[in-house]
Amino acid sequence: MTIPSPTRQRAATLAAAIRHHNQCYYVLAAPEISDADYDQLLRELHTLEAAYPELITPDSPTQRVGAAPSAEFLAVTHQVPMISLDNAMDDDALAAFVAKLTTALPPELPLLFTAEPKLDGLAVSIRYEHGVLVQAATRGDGSVGEDVTHNVRTISSVPLRLLGDSYPQVVEVRGEVYMPRCSFARVNAQLADRGQKLLANPRNAAAGALRQLDARMTATRPLAFCCYGWGELSIDAGASQAALLQQLRAWGVPISPELQVVEGLDGCRAYFAALGERRDALDYDIDGVVFKLDALTAQRALGATSHHPRWAIARKFPPQEAVTLVEAIDFQVGRTGAVTPVARLTPVAVGGVVVANATLHNLDEVHRKDVRVGDTVRIRRAGDVIPEVVSVVLELRPAEAQPLELPSHCPVCGSEVVRTEGVVVARCSGGLYCPAQRKEALKHFASRRALDIVGLGDKLIEQLVDLEWVRQPADLFQLTHDQLARLERMGAQSATKLLLALDKSKTTTLARFIFALGIREVGETTAAALASSFGGLARLMAADAAEVMARVEGAGPVVAEQVVQFFAQPHHQEVIAQLQAAGVQWTETEPLALETAAEAVDTRPLAGKTVVITGTLSRPREEIKAQLLALGAKVTGSVSRKTNYLVAGDAPGSKWDKAQELGVQILTEAALNALQDAE
Ligand code: IVH
Repeated sequence: MTIPSPTRQRAATLAAAIRHHNQCYYVLAAPEISDADYDQLLRELHTLEAAYPELITPDSPTQRVGAAPSAEFLAVTHQVPMISLDNAMDDDALAAFVAKLTTALPPELPLLFTAEPKLDGLAVSIRYEHGVLVQAATRGDGSVGEDVTHNVRTISSVPLRLLGDSYPQVVEVRGEVYMPRCSFARVNAQLADRGQKLLANPRNAAAGALRQLDARMTATRPLAFCCYGWGELSIDAGASQAALLQQLRAWGVPISPELQVVEGLDGCRAYFAALGERRDALDYDIDGVVFKLDALTAQRALGATSHHPRWAIARKFPPQEAVTLVEAIDFQVGRTGAVTPVARLTPVAVGGVVVANATLHNLDEVHRKDVRVGDTVRIRRAGDVIPEVVSVVLELRPAEAQPLELPSHCPVCGSEVVRTEGVVVARCSGGLYCPAQRKEALKHFASRRALDIVGLGDKLIEQLVDLEWVRQPADLFQLTHDQLARLERMGAQSATKLLLALDKSKTTTLARFIFALGIREVGETTAAALASSFGGLARLMAADAAEVMARVEGAGPVVAEQVVQFFAQPHHQEVIAQLQAAGVQWTETEPLALETAAEAVDTRPLAGKTVVITGTLSRPREEIKAQLLALGAKVTGSVSRKTNYLVAGDAPGSKWDKAQELGVQILTEAALNALQDAE
């Protein structure tokens, strides 16, 4: 099929524009267009290429994920070996390195170094021939690595083609592949939701993703690349390390935004100290700073040992992992009642901070890692993230150590701990009754869209709970002028005002009251729907899940189950009775007729749900769309707050990010098929 010339032209224009925007986004960190506009360009190119497959070239921006998984990794021999770095663990070692260079170099030369973060990922070498990415390999043993071309191609910040026309015939770009912390957190949150094994740390996550035989899998793990050097190069490298890195940047290769040229030992020290200060705030793990002599002639003169160059050094930060003892495992109760195991540790210094507690996330995690009281564990602190247990040193386990069990009752209030089948998180069912949840629950109860108690701020609530004057919402209405006036920063006049506000809040609406109770999954809209369809609280409290679903438009099984469970708790019944006894009231109405509501109820699994499709799926989009429509869903093009589900295939792109940001539930194709089968 001949391709019409305007089409060919349009495809070339699109490819060039996409490369330009990749450069703006990934290399210059200065995007010129929105994600949506970028997606639009990419979509248009995809469409043209689908119509005219001859348009597809290996370096087309659409060609990041190849089709077939490879059976094994092929060996790649590095023409220029990938050697390592010498380490300086302390300031003396850094000073010794600088002193040695001072004596080895002509005194008239200023001692300039490039300084950049030492990224904690994996070294790769990416080969471009005539500007096109032809091969990517891991470091391996330094002489022979593994061919990971298919996987590296999926990394969005790696250009498939170099920009401009001044690039050399051959250039091997060397740098680190890593997983940004935000991506790591996102992937782990997703794995936790699915009850799957969590990734231990971003470095392991990056290593695992890069060594996937199926690039479609790699594409679901958001990796990034940062260049810090080069291997084979068919042109003269010039005079300066920094200048060549800047040239690589101009060709579209991302280099560290932290790259600087510093002078002498003082310059190195200042850079190390300044980056150390910002270490926790970076979006990637680093374990030190790499200093390289900037003058390339001097680099060549100094040469390298078989292990490391003599012109570079890695000044390391203190390690962020340490080994210590688990003295106890407590269960903490969070704001939403989530019961989280926390390891109490023999205090140990990690990355300059003393750590005495580490989160164990949830019981599934505890069992996977098999952490027990008495165990010796490796713990890790990454950035400002809560320290966590990485693994157990099994050889040091005492014989009597017992596997951990989930408490049946809340350690704080004694209410039953509930764990729904298939959900990782266990929760205390105490709700408003549980002191650990009380402060947050009271803040919610008093908030503007709930009972709207003007003047009852967060700080005040905390004081009242700490003084044990308020244990549950009804206690608020028993507070006296005498008590309030005695509080810090509260005069007689403010106390009077607050009492008036409390009194006023007692006359409310059923919708506000239901919302104020803080039932999980029941936001303002659902509360209003429950209020109008049931009309009265007693009727709602007596309903079963089927009735809730039948009466309330948009209430699915999850919401209905939460509502029913909430009102079934004797504590909650008591809290409500006391509020009513204290004078909290609203006007009740007749319920909406169940018959008419029930008739209209669509029982298909996705009835009333808005669904968006993204990524590469095993079947054509239209087919997936038809399946969704048959299940009762409304299918739309972009993710918004109204979206209920995102059906995501491989290489999902920005819609996936948006869905994560908004907390939209992700459905895999398999999950979608399961829904269909269940119908
Ligand atoms: S230069 C010839 N620069 O650290 C020098 N390495 O411990 C080769 N690394 O294998 C390495 N950030 O994986 C260099 N800015 C940086 C680096 C860096 C991280 C890694 C790299 C290397 C290892 C050596």
